[in-house]
Amino acid sequence: MEKITIAIDGYSSTGKSTVAKKLAAELNYIYVDTGAMYRAVTLFAIENSCIGDTDNIPGLIENLPNINLNFVPNKELGFSEMYLNGKNVEGEIRTMKVSREVSKVATIPEVRHKLVEMQQQMGKEKGLVMDGRDIGTVVFPDAELKIFMTASANARATRRYKELLDRGEDVSFEEILENVQKRDFIDSTREISPLKKAEDAIKFDNSDMGLEEQFERIHDFALRVI
Ligand code: C5P
Repeated sequence: MEKITIAIDGYSSTGKSTVAKKLAAELNYIYVDTGAMYRAVTLFAIENSCIGDTDNIPGLIENLPNINLNFVPNKELGFSEMYLNGKNVEGEIRTMKVSREVSKVATIPEVRHKLVEMQQQMGKEKGLVMDGRDIGTVVFPDAELKIFMTASANARATRRYKELLDRGEDVSFEEILENVQKRDFIDSTREISPLKKAEDAIKFDNSDMGLEEQFERIHDFALRVI
């Protein structure tokens, strides 16, 4: 069977990664969560005082060569985890501390340049499902299947709220809703690679859809192309 590239883009907390992960497992494809990469760079920036009360963007840019990112497979969990300079940061990059700053870091052209290059390298052999904001427009404009996920802000914040509560974070629903909306605004209005639907992407609203139904439908789209 011919291997293809599947790009899944969309707004924050639309459940892109959950469905992308399941699809990749089913097709025996590699799964790449590009949001995790922007989150890991943000964690580095916070830890090295490049982002916070006062920002030092030139300092972060200067340090980019010292940021080593790796996806390391975790056989028990059945998916890969993000490592930053040799340390597993999978849990830490999902915290609100990082969510608050990540969209700002993602507007920095030098950061995007580094990460897009890595992403294109990972997808050279095809056979991958990649999710993010600019996969179908910038990273793989020739991807054979492009999905653009949307859902109401309320549905998305509810999902993220449950996720963070399950992880034991002390957050309020209002804070999550505000963060989701703020990130969407920054992501879709930034100058470089703004979040937008690629012309040839399939728009997919999953506000009222469970994971199984989303998976079935997207899997079906994939089988039509493969
Ligand atoms: O997907 P996730 O919500 O983890 O992404 C976190 C943030 O990383 C997004 O809100 C966006 O600012 C940035 N991002 C991006 N381009 C991507 C993936 C994520 O700008 N391809």
